[in-house]
Amino acid sequence: MAVSPSAARVAVLSFAFLLLNLHPISPATVGSDPDASPVKRLPARPGSPFKIALFADLHFGEDAWTDWGPRQDVNSVCVMSTVLDDEVPDFVVYLGDVITANNIMIANASLYWDQALSPTRSRGIPFASVFGNHDDAAFEWPLEWFSAPGIPPVHCAVANSSFSGDCSFSGTHRLQLMTNEIEQYALSYSSKGPKDLWPSISNYVLQISPMDNPLSPIAYLYFLDSGGGSYSEVLSNAQSEWFKTRSLEINPDSRVPELIFWHIPSKAYKKVAPWSGVPKPCVGSINKETVASQQAETGIMEILEKRPSVKAVFVGHNHGLDWCCPSKNLWLCYARHTGYGGYGDWARGARIIEINQHPFSIKSWIRMENHDVHSEVNLSS
Ligand SMILES: *[C@@H]1O[C@H](CO)[C@@H](O)[C@H](O)[C@H]1NC(C)=O
Ligand SMILES: *[C@@H]1O[C@H](CO)[C@@H](O)[C@H](O)[C@H]1NC(C)=O
Repeated sequence: MAVSPSAARVAVLSFAFLLLNLHPISPATVGSDPDASPVKRLPARPGSPFKIALFADLHFGEDAWTDWGPRQDVNSVCVMSTVLDDEVPDFVVYLGDVITANNIMIANASLYWDQALSPTRSRGIPFASVFGNHDDAAFEWPLEWFSAPGIPPVHCAVANSSFSGDCSFSGTHRLQLMTNEIEQYALSYSSKGPKDLWPSISNYVLQISPMDNPLSPIAYLYFLDSGGGSYSEVLSNAQSEWFKTRSLEINPDSRVPELIFWHIPSKAYKKVAPWSGVPKPCVGSINKETVASQQAETGIMEILEKRPSVKAVFVGHNHGLDWCCPSKNLWLCYARHTGYGGYGDWARGARIIEINQHPFSIKSWIRMENHDVHSEVNLSS
C-alpha cells in the first residue's frame, strides 16, 4: 500500500515527539556546562609533602632530517629521567613548547608529544600539560632545503601515514594534540577546557587532596593557555573571567592556596624583572634575557592579585631566565629550561614545587641535570 509523503512525514514527526516525551532529557545533562563538572582530584600521600616537577620548553621534534635533532630529544629524555629519579615527584607539569611544530614535517605531531611524555609515563607518574607558542605552529620550510644543490629532502608526491602528501605540513592542532594525550593515557590529568574558551584549549583546574581525606583539599592548580602558534600570544578576557568565576565557585573564601601555570609570561613579569643578576628579594640563578611577554594584558593579573589564595604563577618561554620574584601578594616564577631543543645552551634542569600541609608551606627549588640543587625559595611567605 502506498502512503502519501505528507502522511509519512506526520507519522515520523509524531513518533519523534513521542520519543522526546518518553525520554525526557535528564536535568543533569540539560545545559550541561563542562565548567560545572567536578574538579579532578590528585591524591596526596597522607603525611607526605606533595611534589611537582615542571618540564618546560622541551621542544621535541626539531630537525628530524639531521642527526642533531633526534640527538637533542634523547638528551631531553635523559634530563627528565634524572630529575624524576632524583626527586620522585608526585606529579609532572609539561609547561608548554613540548614540541617544535614549526620544525615537524610529519602529519601527526602526537608522535613527538608522546616521546616527551614517555619518561614520566614509564615511571607511572600522573601529569598534565599546557600549550606553548610552538606546539601547534605552522611548518616553516628550512631555507637550506632550497640551497645548492637545490634538492629538497622531502618528496611531497609520496603520501603515506606519516607524510601529509600535499606538502602543507599544516601541523596538529591543539585540540587534536590534547585529545590524543587524554584518550591514550590514563595518567593524563589534562583537559580540553570549556568550549567557549576555544581556540585556547588547556584551561582547567585540578585539586590536590589527601588520600585519607579527599574532601579537604591542600591546593588547587590552575592551568591556562597563553596562546601563540595558531593564534595570538594572549590570555583572553574570557579566560580571565573563567578563572574568576571558577575560583570563586570552588574556593569561595580563598581558604585553599592556588597555584597558576601557563607558558608565556604576562607583562607583569617585565615590571619585577631584575636589571642584572638575581638580587634579593628575587631568587634564581640566571637572568640572561629580557622578558618576552604576551602581546597584551587583558586583566588576569588584577584578578590574581585580588585573591589572597593565589601564591604563585609559573611560566616557561624564556630559556635564559629561571628566577622567582615577588609581585604584590604573589610570586612570579620562571621554570627552568628542561629541553635540549630550543635556543640557548644554559645547563638544563627543572623547577620543583613542594607543598607541605602541616605546617603549611610551598617551597620551590631547581634540580639540575648534573644533580645539583639551587635557588630554593619559600613561596608561602
Ligand atoms: C596520531 O597519533 C596518536 C598517537 O601518537 C594517535 O592516538 C592518533 O590516533 C593519531 N591520529 C591520526 C589522525 O593518525
Ligand atoms: C612515508 O614516506 C616518507 C617519504 O617518502 C618515507 O621516508 C617514510 O619512510 C614513509 N613512511 C611509511 C610509514 O611508509
